[in-house]
Amino acid sequence: MSAAVKVAVIGLGYVGVPLAAAVAATGANVVGIDIDSEKVESINAGRSPLRGREPGLNELVKATVSKRKFHASLDPADGANAEVVAICVETPIEPSTRDPSHKALKAAISSIGPHLKRGALMTIESTLAPGTMESVVRPALERASKMKVGRDLHLVHCPERLTTGKLLHHLSELPRIVGANEPVALRKALAFYKRFVKAEIHSTDWTTAEVVKTAENAYWDVQIAFANEVALISEELGVDAYRVRELVNTCPFRMMLIPGAGVGGHCIPKDPWLLVSPAVQTKPELIPTARSVNDFMPRRMARLVEEALSAAGRKIKGSRVAVLGFAYRENTDDTRNTPAKEMIQELRRRGADVVIHDPHARTERGYTINRDLRITARGADCLAIVTAHDAYRNLDLKGLKRTMRRHVIVDGRNVFSGSDVVKTGWVYRGIGKGQF
Ligand SMILES: NC(=O)c1ccc[n+]([C@@H]2O[C@H](COP(=O)([O-])OP(=O)(O)OC[C@H]3O[C@@H](n4cnc5c(N)ncnc54)[C@H](O)[C@@H]3O)[C@@H](O)[C@H]2O)c1
Repeated sequence: MSAAVKVAVIGLGYVGVPLAAAVAATGANVVGIDIDSEKVESINAGRSPLRGREPGLNELVKATVSKRKFHASLDPADGANAEVVAICVETPIEPSTRDPSHKALKAAISSIGPHLKRGALMTIESTLAPGTMESVVRPALERASKMKVGRDLHLVHCPERLTTGKLLHHLSELPRIVGANEPVALRKALAFYKRFVKAEIHSTDWTTAEVVKTAENAYWDVQIAFANEVALISEELGVDAYRVRELVNTCPFRMMLIPGAGVGGHCIPKDPWLLVSPAVQTKPELIPTARSVNDFMPRRMARLVEEALSAAGRKIKGSRVAVLGFAYRENTDDTRNTPAKEMIQELRRRGADVVIHDPHARTERGYTINRDLRITARGADCLAIVTAHDAYRNLDLKGLKRTMRRHVIVDGRNVFSGSDVVKTGWVYRGIGKGQF
């Protein structure tokens, strides 16, 4: 594959932007296509449109745009004659049924389909429910392009594995899975991915690749649910789940994960549903149960707030609760599927007056985010820590005590040692903290 190959990346989000910039840095001519004009303008001005800290990404976007190796467009026709087309659009679930939603995937394929040239490779990087390549992607592509997959066009599934905060690093350093159903597609995909992937590239078929990707995230969700269930049991039995975890992990081949106030992000809360969605004869139980254990944790946090306030002599109704952290992941501004929302709604249902602080996340409808912690906590009865941002590790508890009405901390992320906090006159409760 020559250095100056033309590549089209459809969908300029957390997956598409680093991919497009990294491919452009190898000398390819990359066009990024999106329906969001702000993202397109931002890239053409040499700025990454992604929020949060992404080491090296802004610099790479700026460099590749200024060398005219990377530009963005709203017009799918600008992807005409690309040798490689990478589809990186969102693949969510329908909130009410939890079935996969193929709206963006189908729209992206039908918009680029008519502009594809014979012999082109299409790679689907989006996460797919098993069976989607065969039942949705292939027919949509053949319909839109009027060409036949395997004869005129080549199609692979190469699901992304990256994590926000480490996008560029993961893109080149993590091993990849390429699902291909014919040798030409595999050969073309290997030539493309070897341009920027330094790790091993494993090949398999479409469906196995779909199962692998969704199973990776379902695995993580189940492990977190296990830690959360041990945390709930520890609370009831009066022991510290974090100490339990340390000791469990002294046993060979055990790797208990960290419990907490809930699971968020774009992928983990929905990919387990993508994995179970095509299973008809098998009735999956473990994976859906893990989802409901993890979904329960923000409600458990709200209940702990109520219990802690009661121990401090206040009813939750009319109490002011300062929620610390709105992003789902520490030290980022990423609020997708954040458990903070569920906890806040539950607190409001119980009559609490909720104020929210986050050093990075932005205000959303119904959730006003304050940047000044002292002002947020002024007059509050309780601090409820949802996100382990570094900013919360060295809280000035003495100073906060002077401005708060009651002195209650509910710790959803093991930020504090409860005994130290209790010694200084606070009421303390926490996920997995049974002894307070
Ligand atoms: N975010 C992650 O860390 C991550 C990691 C691994 C896999 N994934 C998977 O990768 C896929 C993309 O995730 P993301 O986080 O980049 O999503 P995202 O929401 O950040 O980006 C998707 C982009 O696609 C654009 N888009 C939607 N429909 C389009 C269309 N018809 N034509 C052109 N552009 C269109 C959107 O405007 C958006 O900019 C999903 O399937 C996700 O599950 C994400």
